Amino acid sequence: MSTNNRFSGTTSLRTLIDLPVSLSRDSALPLSVQLGDWLREAMRAGALTAGTRLPSSRGLAAQLGVSRTVVTEAYQQLYAEGWLDGRHGSGTFVADLSTDAAPPARQTPAPPVAEPVRRAAPLIDLTPGEPWVKDYDAAAWKRAWRKAADLPPGDDPDPYGLPRLRELLAGHLRRSRAIAVGPENILVTRGTGNGLDLVALALLGPGARAGVEDPGYRVARNVFAARGATIVPCPVDEDGVIVSGLPSDLRVLYTTPAHQYPMGGRLPIPRRERLLAWARRTGAMVVEDDYDAEFRYDVAPLPALYGLDPSRVVLLGTLSKSLAPDVGVGWLVGEPALLSRIAEIRQDLSDRTSGPVQQAVATLLERGDLDRHLRRMRLEYARRRAAVVEILGPVCRLRGDTAGLHVLAELPPSEVRGIVSAAASRGVLLDTTVRHHHAESQVHGLVIGYGSAALPDVRRGCQILAELIAAAS
Ligand SMILES: Cc1ncc(COP(=O)(O)O)c(C=O)c1O
Repeated sequence: MSTNNRFSGTTSLRTLIDLPVSLSRDSALPLSVQLGDWLREAMRAGALTAGTRLPSSRGLAAQLGVSRTVVTEAYQQLYAEGWLDGRHGSGTFVADLSTDAAPPARQTPAPPVAEPVRRAAPLIDLTPGEPWVKDYDAAAWKRAWRKAADLPPGDDPDPYGLPRLRELLAGHLRRSRAIAVGPENILVTRGTGNGLDLVALALLGPGARAGVEDPGYRVARNVFAARGATIVPCPVDEDGVIVSGLPSDLRVLYTTPAHQYPMGGRLPIPRRERLLAWARRTGAMVVEDDYDAEFRYDVAPLPALYGLDPSRVVLLGTLSKSLAPDVGVGWLVGEPALLSRIAEIRQDLSDRTSGPVQQAVATLLERGDLDRHLRRMRLEYARRRAAVVEILGPVCRLRGDTAGLHVLAELPPSEVRGIVSAAASRGVLLDTTVRHHHAESQVHGLVIGYGSAALPDVRRGCQILAELIAAAS
């Protein structure tokens, strides 16, 4: 439906907004959500401009024949999103979203409904990288921290990590990734970035050649380069890294076989085997970034590279996607000899993972809280991913939609920039493939993350995007 048509009609709501609102009691959506959606659309379309005064909740409720709660809930939501502004004692106003400036003359005291949260950032963030951190089990989280706080602080951090957590992580990986590991194969890191750095210190000296996927994860490129390695971009196709062209002088190859970042491919088994044969032949170590392997949709799991040949692979895992980046815990899985080298380097550099944080994570694992959280998040992400596919599938080619928290929407290069800026002006923040390339982009389009926006926002953002794509083509 065209927004213009919808908001160019005549009136049925007459006091302060001269526009038609229609709410349906037959809809599956609550009345407050319908009203909120309607007002948001009107603001987006410019039918309600910055500074417009909205009716009082009582007045609008009376006009619409709904309870006052319906209106206050809708207003509260729009305040929280930054669409509305309040001036104490004088009503509720459409906020000025055109600049990052302070809200129009909001004088300190609280607005009539709720304190508005001003956001310079776009309202719907569909860029990749962030997971959904809002829906966690607060009781389990507090219990884990209470338990960690019961223990005294340690005086001699173990460079491998806490034995209790290594044991639990090994069990977690055996169950969730079907790899035969014990605690002797696990070193607890502060996340993938820290794991990459330790790998670089152990395996790459200045000038050593490090292969990274292109397009690929910038952090891997940055960390290896910061340790003096020469970066060798290795092309990727829709299944993942292309093995046939890999040079024979790489010390390390960084790859994301479970869900290529950002193209989304899942490396097929024959190619996994060819990759490992290449590593055995050339002596390279493969760094397997398993960052979002917990999330896949309607497809069977593929074996981790580490499980296929532990002698040639270091696997890096993280809680950043499955729980939250802020926790700062990940793991490095490898053969004991390599781990012992890394543990020594850690001691030399006084590098460690916080003990109390590890204790809390261990409790989350021990009590099954992390597994429960993962099950809940799988369902949640599956719904969002289904919405992305349903709305964008008909208007563009999607890649990488069977796993992880992002998809790639392919678009002609000439359309990408225009769509990104048109989407931004309608409150939707998007990322393009360009940022992820080392060399010239071969594939063009948008990398759409559905980790950090709630389902209704994912839907709305994709609907706006679908309109823009349809209009551009
Ligand atoms: C490809 C990839 N690997 C790993 C991570 C997680 O990194 P860390 O554990 O350092 O937070 C991310 C996060 O966005 C990622 O995109």
